[in-house]
Amino acid sequence: MRFDVLTIFPEYFEVMHTGIMGRAVRDGRFSLVVTNIRDYSLDKHHKTDDYPYGGGAGMVMTPDPVMRAIEAVDPDHEALRIYLSPKGVPFCQEMAEELASRERVLLLSGGYEGIDERIIELGIDREVSIGDYVLTGGELPALVVMNATARYIDGVLGSEESTDEESFASGLLEYPHYTRPRVYRGLAVPDVLVSGDHGEVAKWRAARSLEITAERRPDLLAKLGIKAPKTDG
Ligand code: ADE
Repeated sequence: MRFDVLTIFPEYFEVMHTGIMGRAVRDGRFSLVVTNIRDYSLDKHHKTDDYPYGGGAGMVMTPDPVMRAIEAVDPDHEALRIYLSPKGVPFCQEMAEELASRERVLLLSGGYEGIDERIIELGIDREVSIGDYVLTGGELPALVVMNATARYIDGVLGSEESTDEESFASGLLEYPHYTRPRVYRGLAVPDVLVSGDHGEVAKWRAARSLEITAERRPDLLAKLGIKAPKTDG
């Protein structure tokens, strides 16, 4: 699989050389091509923004450098082209899995106050948001989308880093984890986890998952058609 990122801040994407993502790129599990939109500006100062028609605060990314960059990296429109913006459809685990099945995904990170709407009409397939808050640009959202997606690409996660049991895999939040020492600052690991009884461990984890989800994300339980478990409180 190939990711393309279009941005005016390519330095953000150096973090993709680090950790699990860095290992995956070096192992050829997916490729990443970062393109600087500025390189496609015909303006002698490599300008990529201008004042908004109708007035208002901030600058708007001009259509031509972005369109020329998109068409240079994806001339035959083989990629699913995504624009990251707070008014996009919400990104989620299912979308990450869907994107991982594509041959190519192009991520356009806008800056300033936004991009000229005609870029979206002419060159973008899907507008995606990573949450109900506003960031200064689409670079961090593009990294979030890439990271969550890449985890579903074969060979990116080692066997010890599976996607099977984590939060959202079953539609629920994940149970708590413990490692050594058995008692830390007076807090002991729950007995059941050291009992060696795998059936009881599984039951305990399922119950904790349900409890945590009911407390923090009742919307997820409703989606699964599960009633919130009764608690002591
Ligand atoms: N750009 C700025 N804020 C964003 C968000 N929440 N999601 C996607 N792109 C953005």
